Amino acid sequence: MLFKSLSILTAATAALAADQYTLKAAIGPGATGLKPLQLHGNNIVYGLTTGYSDFRAEDDGNTIKLIAQGFPGLSLDVAQDGELIFKSPPEPKEGFSFKGDGLVKDFEFNDSQEFYSCIDETVGPLHPPIVYVKTGDKYGCKNPVKFTIAATKE
Ligand SMILES: *[C@@H]1O[C@H](CO)[C@@H](O)[C@H](O)[C@H]1NC(C)=O
Repeated sequence: MLFKSLSILTAATAALAADQYTLKAAIGPGATGLKPLQLHGNNIVYGLTTGYSDFRAEDDGNTIKLIAQGFPGLSLDVAQDGELIFKSPPEPKEGFSFKGDGLVKDFEFNDSQEFYSCIDETVGPLHPPIVYVKTGDKYGCKNPVKFTIAATKE
């Protein structure tokens, strides 16, 4: 009897919780081309082996919450130049969505699925590639590395 009510409670809690996704830049073909996005400084980056935090993204309807160990509430935002940044405390941000029916969805902003990073700046352990979303008709650098972002439901 007790076990049964606990199961019902667990199921109800699961139904209420929003889906969480891990985000990966799909830079090359196959699984090896998937680079997990990371938190670093105030930016979203990829490719760091130290000095970063993994996170999950959750869409609560009007905010993309970022869940990362050791961080207070965070939300994803876009700077004027398209740079992906995060805010704390979380703030609503229109334009982000997860598209698709499968377990892996396409992440987009303002109907754009094209993201990029710049390699013609000094990229190294202290300057990881920063993720931008392409919103207009221009890139912020001459030689952008273009990619989409694959969101895998956890
Ligand atoms: C996204 O779309 C909104 C509404 O059309 C617009 O106000 C905003 O400037 C766009 N954001 C970027 C970074 O282009």
